[in-house]
Amino acid sequence: MVSAGPLDVVIMAAGKGTRMKSERPKVLHRLGGRALLGRVLDTAVQLSARQAVVIVGHQAEVVRACVGSLGLEGLQPVFALQQPQLGTGHAVQQALPFLQDDGTTLVLSGDVPLTRPETLRDLLALGQGQKLALLTLQLPDPTGYGRVLRQGSAVQAIVEHKDATAQQRCITEVYSGIMALPTRLLRQWLGRLDQRNAQQEYYLTDIVRFAVADGAPVVAHCIDKASEVAGVNSPAQLAELERIFQREQAERLMAEGVRLADPGRFDLRGQLLCGPDVEIDVGCVFEGRVELGAGVRVGAHCVIAQASIADGTIIAPFTHIDGEAAGVEVGEDARIGPFARLRPGTRLARQVHIGNFVEVKNATLAEGTKANHLAYLGDASVGARVNYGAGSITANYDGANKHRTVIEDDVHVGSNCVLVAPVTLGAGGTIGGGSTITEDTPPGALTVARGKQMSVANWQRPQKKR
Ligand code: UD1
Ligand code: MG
Repeated sequence: MVSAGPLDVVIMAAGKGTRMKSERPKVLHRLGGRALLGRVLDTAVQLSARQAVVIVGHQAEVVRACVGSLGLEGLQPVFALQQPQLGTGHAVQQALPFLQDDGTTLVLSGDVPLTRPETLRDLLALGQGQKLALLTLQLPDPTGYGRVLRQGSAVQAIVEHKDATAQQRCITEVYSGIMALPTRLLRQWLGRLDQRNAQQEYYLTDIVRFAVADGAPVVAHCIDKASEVAGVNSPAQLAELERIFQREQAERLMAEGVRLADPGRFDLRGQLLCGPDVEIDVGCVFEGRVELGAGVRVGAHCVIAQASIADGTIIAPFTHIDGEAAGVEVGEDARIGPFARLRPGTRLARQVHIGNFVEVKNATLAEGTKANHLAYLGDASVGARVNYGAGSITANYDGANKHRTVIEDDVHVGSNCVLVAPVTLGAGGTIGGGSTITEDTPPGALTVARGKQMSVANWQRPQKKR
């Protein structure tokens, strides 16, 4: 491959996206949990672009702020404002002050999220940093797209649908909206654009005509996978691309050996790292970064975000795990769910059991501890082999501040206890059911803190008055 010099990417993202019928700028709608524009910028990162220029217009500030929060590695996009929007050629004109003539410019759209970097590398290789390289596509129904006019095999021009003759409209090779070319040529040709066409816009596609007129080489890389260049204009199209994206992720995981009960009912909005022999039942959603160790089984309809689950653990159906910033860690051979909720800062050691309707937040549970029914453990340090009874809670919040509860090894907490933090339950102690514990309890003892049971013999119930 001939060295093509530095790569600068221009991303058109000024359009309004009327058909989304949304307050949110179109390029900020999400696919696989990430903004469409974020996905396009990720592609620029993968291509090792020197620079990315984002053309913004509608709600420019909102778009800018979102890009700032994407966490792109080694790429700090710059923004060019296009106001008003007078067409794709006009859009790229706004990027010119940011582009240097020693490079190649790759034009992308912020609403086309599924272009593979390999496809773009092929396009760049074809252009060799010298030629105008167009990404094109064969479409059975080319309505609406710019058609690629050829003489023999040589590309002559792109004619927009609205400007095309009936005969030209029969052409099924269309321009994808993606092109790459030497920046110095782009600059020359953009200066020659006019608005003399059916839409009275500055068409970027007119530069193909100029290239041919100047005797500059034009090449086309024709692909057949429409989803790679498909844009998002409506909620229906967004959902369609989401399904394609999810299907591809599901297939990649299955190729690695992950057993998905149904790849059509699987959603990954982030990164999922799986050990061998992982099984995932239907309807699960994974967000952020999730790690599943060897042999982990995830039951149906679980939502798991920002969590690491160690080898051999079973997550039963309808469990919600969300580690947010602090993360959730579950040790080996644990049993979680069904209907469990693990919140940020939960750290469970091996063989911990968390059962139905149990919520854990910012709490550490050591090996073998069990909380199997209807309970809350928040801001707690819990030792090993603790049994935490049904209906028991840590009262960790006094209305102003959070306090910690410490439960030492081998404590048994009966049912329906309230542990008013800050409080420590000494090792090996037993807490009688129904106790409200406000003071530290000694190790090894039975502590009961509730009204003493009494009985009144021969009790006469009140009678109804006549
Ligand atoms: C464009 C191409 C057409 C191609 C099609 C592929 C032109 C003139 N035509 O069509 O040949 O088949 O893409 O999808 O280039 N945008 C701006 N500012 C503007 C206008 C557009 O930022 O002033 C952005 C849009 O938000 C969008 C992208 O550019 O992300 C493409 O614009 P769009 O109107 O969808 O392209 P078409 O004109 O339909
Ligand atoms: Mg248009």
